[in-house]
Amino acid sequence: MSNASLTLDPAFTIGAVDPRLFGSFVEHLGRCVYTGIFEPGHPAADEHGLRRDVLDLVRELGVTVVRYPGGNFVSGYRWEDGVGPERPVRLDPAWKSIEPNVFGLGEFINWTRLAGVIPMMAVNLGTRGVQEACDLLEYANHPAGTALSELRVSHGAIKPYDIGLWCLGNEMDGPWQTGHKTAAEYGRLAAETARAMRMIDPNLELVACGSSGAGMPTFGAWEATVLEEAYDQVDYISLHAYYEPLGGDLTSFLASGAMMESYIEDAIATCDHVRARLKKDKRIHLSFDEWNVWYMSRHQSEPPTEWEHAPRLLEDHYNVMDAVVVGSLLIALLRHADRVKIACQAQLVNVIAPIVAEPGGPAWRQTTFHPFAQAARYGRGEVLRVEPDSPPAGDVPALHATAVRAPDGTVTLFAVNRSQTEPLDLTATVGALGDVRLLEHTVLTDDDLDARNTADDPDRVRPHSVGTSVVGGGTLRALLPPVSWNVIRLG
Ligand code: AHR
Repeated sequence: MSNASLTLDPAFTIGAVDPRLFGSFVEHLGRCVYTGIFEPGHPAADEHGLRRDVLDLVRELGVTVVRYPGGNFVSGYRWEDGVGPERPVRLDPAWKSIEPNVFGLGEFINWTRLAGVIPMMAVNLGTRGVQEACDLLEYANHPAGTALSELRVSHGAIKPYDIGLWCLGNEMDGPWQTGHKTAAEYGRLAAETARAMRMIDPNLELVACGSSGAGMPTFGAWEATVLEEAYDQVDYISLHAYYEPLGGDLTSFLASGAMMESYIEDAIATCDHVRARLKKDKRIHLSFDEWNVWYMSRHQSEPPTEWEHAPRLLEDHYNVMDAVVVGSLLIALLRHADRVKIACQAQLVNVIAPIVAEPGGPAWRQTTFHPFAQAARYGRGEVLRVEPDSPPAGDVPALHATAVRAPDGTVTLFAVNRSQTEPLDLTATVGALGDVRLLEHTVLTDDDLDARNTADDPDRVRPHSVGTSVVGGGTLRALLPPVSWNVIRLG
């Protein structure tokens, strides 16, 4: 047992949480769309083929914004293929898949309305450019009276889709990306595309591609070059990061949240360096629009061999430790809520996802569903500045924590114990919160850190209430088991 401490004081805040911090991602990849959110003929599907059982879980998860249609997929995508009555079947080279285009923009917007989420649309800046982006925007957002807006109306969508949030391409520095570019090439294209899109709709919020990861040789210089070109035209720069226990190193894996925090801080430093150089008042915010645990090295050794429709790709089956790491990644995002305004867990269903949808069968929650759902529910309000003190777990402190004060004054402490051996005896000074009571302490952990949920046992891993925590005399005492995700609510 080790001791740990922190202080919760509403006088010290980081900033308000943008609800779009709890976003997700639907890509035409594997079974995310087909037999994921969309499966005509499934017993739970509506008349449009949208799975109601999946929609129920999406609403329960608390997702606020969903990025679409990719991902690597978007860099070879012709949006026109996914609208109207003619839907050509195409090759998707990004994922070596057959794309029937039965699901496209209109179907996605219909789904977002049922799910109650904001659409975040990506344009193809890999094989396409300014004109196609403007065409898509006109089709989607212009009310009526032009060729493309009338085309939408003729497809049954009388009212415009009013999509306000757009990504200017995807991972354009990645050699794996169709049509990948140098920073100078992309910066110019992003600026020109943004300029033209804003001429059609000045109220858009635009996300430029940052480097596709902190480990890329391009990271840092890429962001600086892109922002030198596009600073006035864009609002956000994207960050992408996936974590896994490389070489079985669980200590480093449990420190993923710390790696994410240092990536965010480096990206902020780069944005603010350009801001100073260009003498701008405006700050660029961050859109962490792909993040998750992804056992990528496993999948790289199993690339698809045949051209298939909706193959089983990237279907990670998450365990308890993965859920604790996801919790820590959510803590990292919240701890930077002043600059990270949008974040999308990649992805939503089947593909490295918190929700699994069996073709023709049930939909169920992976272990990673729970930390996301709890953070999305209780992580609304003002993030408090929390400075935990604890012994180390490897190179980072064992305790990773943040707290959010809701508008009703309720304070939720999110805490992960990254130690694999030592429980943490937490003492939190909470006197500045006033006369608060303990509402609940839930913990997600297990004696078997490899335990997983399955279709047959979908609730094997979930948070449980613990009755041992106490609040009194301005102090909270709580026990945080090794490798655990804790949600402690005070009010
Ligand atoms: O989310 C899976 C893939 O990861 C996305 O298509 C791509 O943008 C990233 O490399």
